[in-house]
Amino acid sequence: MSLTPQNISDIRASWQVLAADADGFTADFYAALFRRDPALRPLFAQTDLPAQRKKLVAALALVVRNADDLSAVLGPLEEMGTRHVGYGVKDSDYTTVGGALIETMEAHLQEGFTAEVRDAWITAYGAVAGTMMAGAQAAEARKSA
Ligand code: HEM
Repeated sequence: MSLTPQNISDIRASWQVLAADADGFTADFYAALFRRDPALRPLFAQTDLPAQRKKLVAALALVVRNADDLSAVLGPLEEMGTRHVGYGVKDSDYTTVGGALIETMEAHLQEGFTAEVRDAWITAYGAVAGTMMAGAQAAEARKSA
């Protein structure tokens, strides 16, 4: 998977806008997530949500920073996917999270959320989620080996 130069500049420019209100963005993201699937709320029962919002922003910023060479973050993303199995996350939840992310980006970027920006984030999210799920599957395979 590789992002086009256009994808990369769309992601970087739109992230500047989103990150300027990182707290609002992540608060709205978790609200959208729990609205889309209230059954995900218990996964975060023990979670310090304000701290978690900062971790999510840091993870997204890492992806944005490495958007021109995602191979540099594949290892850490696989490990993160492995940890997510322990949080009770299933593959299908990645679709819900992706939908909530895109919805929240649209709400925050407004007219800046062009079809091109949307495509860029959908491609990037697909790569990140795919890598995390691969890490999760590798961990499952090791367990049953
Ligand atoms: C691209 C997708 C995702 C990213 C970038 C992401 C990012 C993170 C990060 C950085 C953490 C902090 C702990 C760690 O690094 O292991 C975390 C924890 C967590 N994530 Fe995700 N995540 C993603 C997908 C998901 C999905 C699909 C779910 C399902 C609801 C989920 C639920 C959780 C939960 C329950 C925690 C544990 C919070 C705690 O420590 O109590 N994440 N996530």
